Amino acid sequence: MKPKIAQIGPYEVELKEGKRYLWCACGRSKDQPFCDGSHEGTGIKPVSFKAEKSEKAALCGCKHTKHPPYCDGTHETIEKIGGDF
Ligand code: FES
Repeated sequence: MKPKIAQIGPYEVELKEGKRYLWCACGRSKDQPFCDGSHEGTGIKPVSFKAEKSEKAALCGCKHTKHPPYCDGTHETIEKIGGDF
């Protein structure tokens, strides 16, 4: 199954140093940009990562970044082709 575009653009979140997060990779979570278990049955797994420091981060909302969980600008390509990846 392909990931769903949760939002065309990143989610700005406050990360806490040393804390582990589960980034939603399937795009179906209601708790964006984090996993709520909605990936069940999609074959897509969330990405677990640990915050190196406390900071504001831009986590990918389009789910097509090449550098999960972070936004790498790929969402701009989606905008150009009309949201149908
Ligand atoms: S929101 Fe996905 S690359 Fe920016």
